[in-house]
Amino acid sequence: MRDRVLIRPMTPADAAGVYHMSSEALIATAEEAEEIRGRGAEEVERRKGRYLHFLEHDPGGAWVAAEGDRVVGVALALAREGVWILSLFAVHEEYRSAGVGLGLLERALGYARGRKGAMLAASTHPAALRRYALAGFDLLPTLVASGAVRRDSLPAGLKVRAGTEDDLQLAAEVDRLLRGAAHGPDLEFMLQTGCRLLVAENPAGRGYAVAWEGSPGIVAATAPEVAADLLWACLADGPGEKVEVRWITGFQNWAVPVALRAGLSLSPAGPICVKGELGPLTPYLPSGPFL
Ligand SMILES: CC(C)(COP(=O)(O)OP(=O)(O)OC[C@H]1O[C@@H](n2cnc3c(N)ncnc32)[C@H](O)[C@@H]1OP(=O)(O)O)[C@@H](O)C(=O)NCCC(=O)NCCS
Repeated sequence: MRDRVLIRPMTPADAAGVYHMSSEALIATAEEAEEIRGRGAEEVERRKGRYLHFLEHDPGGAWVAAEGDRVVGVALALAREGVWILSLFAVHEEYRSAGVGLGLLERALGYARGRKGAMLAASTHPAALRRYALAGFDLLPTLVASGAVRRDSLPAGLKVRAGTEDDLQLAAEVDRLLRGAAHGPDLEFMLQTGCRLLVAENPAGRGYAVAWEGSPGIVAATAPEVAADLLWACLADGPGEKVEVRWITGFQNWAVPVALRAGLSLSPAGPICVKGELGPLTPYLPSGPFL
């Protein structure tokens, strides 16, 4: 089967195939299957728009595996300043364990050449963990906190304000300190597609968060107490009926009391995988697709 599959650069015409194949491939639970089936057209278009955003900015990192016209695998990588990031990696179930994933990952890692650091947010899939560990990544296990936010737990007087485009410079500086690279066009993309920017600047430190319907997309700050305030502000920034605080590594224990006080439940999740030179990555909750 491997010889019928061609690994080639992605094109804009692949976006729909990438969406359908990867959405199916990444389903790990019945709840996720239900969430994907229930996605509205707007959400589907937002995701395809994200792949096209990567293709526009990082054509050298975007690869698909195809059998004829059918997309059967994808790896989307981006490079921001000195850091390489893997945003999406999936192979259709029928095509797995035949080296297609390895071929895609090798192409995507080729785009890392000359970068000093690399990171990705992994699923719990054993084949993915095998591929990343064998590619030299260190695996940092994480927890995810999820559930409904207890509205009466939300603290008053948070030292956080709504951000504007004028705060992108602050965000870039905090990002360079924490992760070794600014998010560049990705932060603008997140804000253009409905995320909200929250900013903290006070004597304790500074930082920013990107909130999406009450869940944090990114929380980055120079001090844990500032990060905790930003996380609270994300949880307060939406109806809070179903939120997720993802990618809590052992370096983000500042986030655990917030999640517990907000009434969320902790469960184990996939690791953050890191390689080479990055920032301290704390206090920091990354974005899965943009890290
Ligand atoms: C991760 C994924 C992309 C790998 O694709 P693939 O084409 O199967 O990859 P490869 O065939 O190159 O490599 C898979 C490796 O895992 C091994 N493997 C497969 N299933 C395994 C399992 N249950 N436990 C341990 N190892 C397993 C295979 O033997 C192979 O190792 P080898 O090459 O040393 O023999 C694919 O499994 C997938 O789409 N998973 C679901 C989506 C997902 O979780 N993606 C990662 C998001 S971070």
